[in-house]
Amino acid sequence: MRKRIIAGNWKMNKTMEDGLALASKVTNMAVDEVSSDVTMVMCTPAIHLSPVASITKDVTNVSVGAQNMSEHESGAYTGDLAADMIVSTGASFVIIGHSERREYHFETNQQLADRVKLAVTKGLTPLFCCGESLDTREANDHVNYVNTQLKESLFDLSAEDMKKVVIAYEPIWAIGTGVTASSDQAQEMHLSIRNSLAGQFGQEVANEISILYGGSMKPSNAQELLAQPDVDGGLIGGASLKARDFVDIAKSY
Ligand code: 13P
Repeated sequence: MRKRIIAGNWKMNKTMEDGLALASKVTNMAVDEVSSDVTMVMCTPAIHLSPVASITKDVTNVSVGAQNMSEHESGAYTGDLAADMIVSTGASFVIIGHSERREYHFETNQQLADRVKLAVTKGLTPLFCCGESLDTREANDHVNYVNTQLKESLFDLSAEDMKKVVIAYEPIWAIGTGVTASSDQAQEMHLSIRNSLAGQFGQEVANEISILYGGSMKPSNAQELLAQPDVDGGLIGGASLKARDFVDIAKSY
């Protein structure tokens, strides 16, 4: 069975104190309220990784992830974060290729391919983000656009490594806008992503890969989105900053 994953992307929010308070709340609520079949992940700013990993370390279904990672192993890359550093904090996930990183930091599909490969080699689970802009959707080119993102960043992986990757479909027009993709739109794209993976890696591999939806997911719309057969979880921005909302989304299964 595919893993069900509810991941929160804190983005550039929370001071140390506020972040640790949020992580403690989420972890305690998850223990009391969330099914052990659901993996919750908090993708925090780099400074929070180590202390948040200490908070979650005894809770099997709550994990910690970074929001970005360098394609280089180490060296003179000021401000960047290496895979080994992430691993050394106790984090086990890393977001790769978020649309905000692609847009503001000009990350390319090839760079992201290198990062995904390195993350897998180091034992981190990449949360690989893909998704189209509003212009691309209005031009009815979204399927083709996302397929190119998958092809250029993931299709060089071996089937064994591909199984270790989690995909997050995040239509850019739905991120932080309050506009969510309808459950039909999400299902259509998730199925298309799975079919594309099946074409490259075989149906058996494709069936094992969790594909998360991201973009204005909140407690009021999570149930309908998560009920779609190819939606295996969520990558949540704004609503992951409130423990109650984030945990309620994880309880929507
Ligand atoms: P919002 O849930 O705030 O729309 O953000 C989604 C997102 O970008 C998660 O990575």
